[in-house]
Amino acid sequence: MNQLSEFFEELDDSSDETSRHDRKRVTQRRESQKREMESKLFTRAQEISRDFHFTYKAARFEEAWLLDSLVEFAENEWISDVLRKVKGGKEASVYLCKSGPEIPSAEWVAVKVYRPQMLRNLRNDAMYRAGRADLNGAGGVVTDKRQLRAMRSKTEYGRELLHQSWIAYEFTTLEMLHKAGADVPEPYRMSNNAILMEFVGDLGMSAPTLNEISLERLEAVSLFERVMRNLDILLSHDRIHGDLSAYNILYWNREITLIDFPQVVSPRINRNAFRIFSRDVFRVCDYFIKQGMKINSEKVADDLWNSRGFPSFEIEGPD
Ligand SMILES: Nc1ncnc2c1ncn2[C@@H]1O[C@H](COP(=O)(O)OP(=O)(O)O)[C@@H](O)[C@H]1O
Ligand SMILES: [Mg+2]
Repeated sequence: MNQLSEFFEELDDSSDETSRHDRKRVTQRRESQKREMESKLFTRAQEISRDFHFTYKAARFEEAWLLDSLVEFAENEWISDVLRKVKGGKEASVYLCKSGPEIPSAEWVAVKVYRPQMLRNLRNDAMYRAGRADLNGAGGVVTDKRQLRAMRSKTEYGRELLHQSWIAYEFTTLEMLHKAGADVPEPYRMSNNAILMEFVGDLGMSAPTLNEISLERLEAVSLFERVMRNLDILLSHDRIHGDLSAYNILYWNREITLIDFPQVVSPRINRNAFRIFSRDVFRVCDYFIKQGMKINSEKVADDLWNSRGFPSFEIEGPD
């Protein structure tokens, strides 16, 4: 995990100390830890920026975080330049990059860099993780006892592993869905803090999300069918998006692209699966209803779910 992330974790760890008596000392220690970590990060960022000159000039703090997160991509020649920030969100920022010689199939690529606080921002992460094995940096299931223990007790190391697991879920899901012919960006590489994937848009403009645009009725009908087809591909590959809405569907050249998969859940294993799936369907339907379509969202969710043979009730059991 990158240094800035460790720095946030350290700050959090020290926030458990509650005694008034200690508070001043803790604050001072925190301040000095913070200064120390910042200065380490900025020194490293300066070193990195000697070798890599990116067109995009971020603010000082963002730049240090970005350089630290992208140095592996640049060193491996997966990217050769960062051109601009596409969007900065609560959980990740996405940048438009020029691809490097090692990614010859695309000229422009998108890099999604996760925020260190990403884990904490994922509200109710237990709901998504129920029954879900954790993945390592190579996309394989974590079986090492020490690592499993660290994740259970949420030590700093454990949280690092969990952070990696969310990213690995996003990447491996994109790989699987892309192979299956779903409308998702082609994934190219992942690191411990970022994903490199196909960029949707062109040099002048990135694709808007569906919620940013209105559709003609006929187009709405065909795009709705397309989203449903994608939901079915996901189900047939044992996946539910888990955070699907018009905010996570891109629109470009009259086509849609589903994005943002770190929280995917399995319809077979997660006991909240049907609830999570229905929420995805309802949110998507809401958008298309606003575009003038008449849809029975409940029936759409039930039909998709039942057509794949899943039971349409909550699966009982422990977390
Ligand atoms: N492959 C991509 N091509 C173009 N824009 C993208 C791509 N992936 C993400 N974006 C943009 O970045 C934003 C944030 O990405 P997303 O994966 O949804 O992360 P977050 O967890 O921050 O919502 C999206 O709303 C979209 O505007
Ligand atoms: Mg999103």
